Amino acid sequence: MAKKKIAVLISGGGSNLQSLIDRQQAGFFAGEISLVISNNKNAYGLIRAEQNKIPALHISKKDYPTNELYDRKLIELFAEYEIDLIVLAGYLRYVTPELIAKYPNKIINIHPSLLPAFGGQGFYGAKVHQAVYARGAKVSGATVHFVDEGQDTGPIILQQAINLDTKWQPEDIAEKVLRIEHQILPLAVKYFCEDKLTVENNRVYIDL
Ligand code: GRF
Repeated sequence: MAKKKIAVLISGGGSNLQSLIDRQQAGFFAGEISLVISNNKNAYGLIRAEQNKIPALHISKKDYPTNELYDRKLIELFAEYEIDLIVLAGYLRYVTPELIAKYPNKIINIHPSLLPAFGGQGFYGAKVHQAVYARGAKVSGATVHFVDEGQDTGPIILQQAINLDTKWQPEDIAEKVLRIEHQILPLAVKYFCEDKLTVENNRVYIDL
């Protein structure tokens, strides 16, 4: 089976990127991270990519000022690098319908809650865990899903939950959930690389 070529899009620290790099190097999935792109030039994830000799690009919204122009540049790069799978790993930009149409069920995202709870407009990063804490939720977790034209609404690939200790603060929840992210994102990538994922009526079937 030919190795899938993976592009990882980031905006920040890149700990999910790092978990993918580590698992790739351990031979956990039949894929190769061929390209890392960040919209934030200061994203530490770019350094992680460079340290692992992965092409790492900062694409600035100053050069591509609209969502459409920005994503057309991404599409150009994905074609140049012959990308099969796009992973959004802490990527905070809007993804346009044009990019989604080019890569149907080939763009996956990691979200730090059990969607559909605590997802959608305004729910990203620490804001998610603050809302979970404020609500007094008893469980939280992470979700890997295919990206569709909604916000955090695409077909769910994997989820993993964790019981919340009432003493935990939002930052404690964030830390526990991030550990789950680092487990389920590489697993979803593994299933994709092995062509084990099919989507029917917005449901993802995993051919185990
Ligand atoms: C993670 O919490 C992820 O769920 C969210 O953004 C954060 C990215 O963290 N999308 P990192 O940059 O992968 O460390």
